[in-house]
Amino acid sequence: MSNPRYPTLFSPFDLGGYTLRNRIIHASIVTKYIANNAPTEKLINYYRSRAAGGAAAIVTEPIAMTAYNRIPTRLRAWDDVGMGNLRQVADLVNTEGSLLLGQVQDSGRGRHGVGRNDGAVGASALPDDLSWTVPTALSIGEIEAMIEAWARGCRRLKNAGFAGVEISAGHGHLFHQFLSPWSNRRDDEYGGDLEGRTRFLRSLISAIRNECGYPFIIGLKLPADDGVVGGIDMNEASAIAARLAEQRSEFDSWTWAWGSHARSLYKHLPDAHGERHPYLAHIAELRKIAPEVATGGIGYITDPNECETALTNGTADIVFLGRPLITDPSFPNKSRVGREADIRYCVACNTCWRSIIDGQGLECDNNPRVGSPDEHEWQPISVSNPKHIVIVGTGVAALEAAHTAARRGHRITVAGDHSNVGGKTLLHASLPGGENLSSVYDYQYLMANRYEVEFALGRKASADDIVSLQPDVVLLATGSRAGQPHWLDDDWAASGLIPSLREIATDLLERSDTTEGRCVLVDQDHTEMTYAVAELLARRFTKVTIMTSRERLGHDMSLINRQGSYQRLHDLGIEILCNVEPVDLDALENAQLGIRNVYSGALSHIDDVVAVTHASSRIPNDELLAPLQAHGLDVRTIGDSRAPRSLLATTREAYQVANQL
Ligand SMILES: Cc1cc2nc3c(=O)[nH]c(=O)nc-3n(C[C@H](O)[C@H](O)[C@H](O)COP(=O)(O)O)c2cc1C
Repeated sequence: MSNPRYPTLFSPFDLGGYTLRNRIIHASIVTKYIANNAPTEKLINYYRSRAAGGAAAIVTEPIAMTAYNRIPTRLRAWDDVGMGNLRQVADLVNTEGSLLLGQVQDSGRGRHGVGRNDGAVGASALPDDLSWTVPTALSIGEIEAMIEAWARGCRRLKNAGFAGVEISAGHGHLFHQFLSPWSNRRDDEYGGDLEGRTRFLRSLISAIRNECGYPFIIGLKLPADDGVVGGIDMNEASAIAARLAEQRSEFDSWTWAWGSHARSLYKHLPDAHGERHPYLAHIAELRKIAPEVATGGIGYITDPNECETALTNGTADIVFLGRPLITDPSFPNKSRVGREADIRYCVACNTCWRSIIDGQGLECDNNPRVGSPDEHEWQPISVSNPKHIVIVGTGVAALEAAHTAARRGHRITVAGDHSNVGGKTLLHASLPGGENLSSVYDYQYLMANRYEVEFALGRKASADDIVSLQPDVVLLATGSRAGQPHWLDDDWAASGLIPSLREIATDLLERSDTTEGRCVLVDQDHTEMTYAVAELLARRFTKVTIMTSRERLGHDMSLINRQGSYQRLHDLGIEILCNVEPVDLDALENAQLGIRNVYSGALSHIDDVVAVTHASSRIPNDELLAPLQAHGLDVRTIGDSRAPRSLLATTREAYQVANQL
């Protein structure tokens, strides 16, 4: 029985000779769950759960289809050797009633990581805007050979049971590099005017259609505004779409991607610093070029209502969901049966992107189970000997452990001094761009209550209080607090005049006045929350300076989030000083802060300083550990009270510990 709130979302749709069971397609997501061109167990689990979770189709991550592109973290389709693996993946998706589409992509000169992209090919020998990789310009013969190889690769996918492919021609990759006048300066038939720049893509579409025939879905991901001066803006994107539309009998659907391999990369993963689904209005305009082509809505579409609206207001025929299906593979099924409250919603933190770029495989702040078996309808193993577990703390570590252990059959009591749950994340959720984070602890709290966790909140629990509860196990999830930075002597620290970041943020959130003068934020944290506070400071002080002893800000953030953050900090006029630390706090009496270059030792100062705050390395709140152990209790620390780390580390650790109890 389908949820009457989303009649269109859960109606079937005919595409390329196939029928989608609903309108939700899993957008292409690199998982790094592939090794030596073969799927790992995690990839199998990942696809099975997303298919069983109800997506109508899954677009895979890019598949290696050419002799040139044999990246080991891609499935192998450049010859017949990988057919068994391709069949295995297609079968498991098809068995769950979903369709599999392989992504056709080559990064060309594009590179996210440090260093250059050795052996890269491209449209012209011009540097990648991020890595400055200069590719070898492809000859006409090489282009033709690649097109043939891709078409044969697609044929292999079809033989293996794939329902189609998506050609990734956006995101700054190779086909985008040919489409853009910024990166394509060729003077042969594959460059120059629109006709020349679209020729590679148009020939590829024709070759795949010739090779694969029907039924076979060919979808396009085209560049919209790529944010590169001289590149593709919305006018150029429209012109490209209009030229491709002349060939619409050969492909089946299109959608668009924003940003490029440039400072604009972050635009492909919009987050809570901007409006929700920011691209749908543009997509609605672009689809008017050829309304009969099935159109995909994409980009920060987070809940089923937004999906339904995009489908019914003329924007799109299908919706591509990327990050939301990483966080909850059962988003489609839960929406369909009216269990929207049970969805673990994507918070657009982009930790997923960071995890694949850092190379350890896809992970999610709000889903500690990505890639595990039966992730879509996870049921923990029930314990035979239920214990009474007392969890001290109210943050996400406490709540993740509480609902997970309660689901296993343990009796759980959560004791915490705050009357609200959420801990540090609650504060972050109140800061600019943080609003989504509330869904992390809202979900945990909902589940904890559903599984009858007892909450004793609003009173600081002493060791004796905890002992009196007669727990079998105590989990200390008491978080962390700001440490005292080395440049802050004891007198200044005791003065209370240099608040920590959390203290100043808490204070400023209760006020709305603006102070004349400069607030200096000394950054020894380098995570998102620090820059969210910086944005708040920029609303409350007329001048803001962030200083760090490192070479750049945001060292612990993904490239994507760093770009977005830098954009906002610069837009707000915040001054950024690197390689310096404070030295002379006494100068504050004259509204000056002395600073020293950490390499040369050169001294200088900042003027007009009316406030200083510090985001310093945190130290664990583990004071209860020793007294509780002295009572002979089994006590374990989790989250920041074990060691201050990221939200990802916290949810993952709390989940793992709760599963071991
Ligand atoms: C971790 C991660 C990996 C991605 N990998 C790809 C990819 O290989 N190919 C691609 O076309 N898009 C890729 N994307 C972009 C998504 O397909 C999608 O366009 C983007 O996430 C916006 O949709 P969303 O807001 O629903 O996540 C990736 C996104 C993320 C977060």
